[in-house]
Formats: sequence, C-alpha cells, structure tokens
Amino acid sequence: MNKLVFKSEAALNEVAAGIIAGLLQTKPDAVLGLATGGTPVGIYKELVRLYAEGKVSFRKASAFNLDEYVGLPPDHPESYRSYMQKHLYDHIDMPPENRHIPDGNAPDPEAESRRYDELLERVGRIDLQLLGIGHNGHIGFNEPGPALIGATHVARLSDKTRQANSRYFPSLSDVPEKAITMGVGTILKARRILLVAKGADKAEIIRKALYGPITTEVPASLLQTHPGLTVLLTEDAAG
Ligand code: GLP
Repeated sequence: MNKLVFKSEAALNEVAAGIIAGLLQTKPDAVLGLATGGTPVGIYKELVRLYAEGKVSFRKASAFNLDEYVGLPPDHPESYRSYMQKHLYDHIDMPPENRHIPDGNAPDPEAESRRYDELLERVGRIDLQLLGIGHNGHIGFNEPGPALIGATHVARLSDKTRQANSRYFPSLSDVPEKAITMGVGTILKARRILLVAKGADKAEIIRKALYGPITTEVPASLLQTHPGLTVLLTEDAAG
C-alpha cells in the first residue's frame, strides 16, 4: 500500500487529479472507475481545470461509476448520474456513450446489474478505480455484514448510510432504500485503486480499514489485499 497524507484538501485534490491525468496522458483510452459523494467533488473540479487548460483530454477514455440509487429517475437532482453531469461530464470531452452509470430506474434492477458487469467485461479491466469510504467502511454501496457480494448487485442501504446521505435530500424518507452497486469483486479487479478520505470524522474507519483485520464487517478492509492500492488522506483523516 502506498499512503500519502496531505496538509490540505486542495493539495490532495491536486495530486489525485494529477494521478488520473497522468494515466490519461500515458493511456488516453484508459477505463476509469468513478465515485460520488462529497469526497471526490474537489478532485473532479481539479480535473475540469486541467481539461480547461488543455492539460488532459478524456476524448478516448471511458468511465464506469460505482453505484446508483434504485428508483430515482436519471434526471433527479440527487441521482448519481446528475451528480456526474454537474461535477464532471458537463465540463469535459468524454463522449456520452463512454460514460457508464447503472440505470437505477431500470424495470429489473437485477438484470441491469448483470448488464453492467457484462459491459465492464467487454470493455476490459478498470485501469484506475477512485473510491471514497463510508463511516461504516462501505465502499460503493457494499455495506458491512456477514457476507459480501462480488458482482454488481442490488444492495439495501444501511440506516447509517441513509442517514449520512439524507443531507442531500429534503428528508430521510426521501433517501432511496436500495442501490445498484459494483460488488467488491468488481472493485478489486481494477488494476489500481485510489482510496480517498478527508476529515477527522473518517479517521477511525480509515484506521480500521487499513490496519484492522480484513473482515466483511469493514468492507474497505478488503482493499488491504489489493497490490495496487494508493491511499490519499488529509492529515485529520490520517488521525
Ligand atoms: C456514498 C457512496 C460512496 C461514498 C460514500 C462516502 O454513500 N455510495 O461511494 O464513498 O458514501 O461519501 P462522502 O464522500 O460524502 O463521505
């Protein structure tokens, strides 16, 4: 594991965006695995800046998002598709047909999960997977539990996750109860993983995920087994 600790969020964002831009410079048709949540917002902003300055192009790249809420229409302001449009896709040159996000509004979410994995397999491996971490150690929407699922699947969100994400919705009852998420197997297949955490509230779970036992009760702890893991932390998240 390669771990980098930063004095400021701005410095972390710059390095994270630099790693992604560096990959695209050496491999313009790279396959990116992208995440949502508060953590990557500043990284996407930095990537948009690099693109605007002509330092990176996404024209040949493609991307697969980790997850999407079930039951939200794609144009719902809190869908992860809307998030990606707002923070990244509206501002860069990645062709729309190369931007993949599970369809949370699909009539059969299980079939949609299978379609997503098949699509990923056709494209090949994800070159670089960007990941945030939930306070309970979830990655994507792989919640703690006695067992984890490898493939993309429909997951039920824990109360803790719904509460954390209710900050984006009018009320807790508006937060979807399910999501389509890449499974831990799909995530661990990525050639390289960039795990990012910011803020003192993530210090405890980061400690467990990186140095605690590898357990399905802390899904992010499985990342310890990945040979290409890079962790980017702000000082307060590093504890
Ligand atoms: C969400 C997402 C995760 C994300 C996590 C942390 O529920 N499904 O992909 O990493 O929560 O979010 P944040 O970065 O806002 O703390």
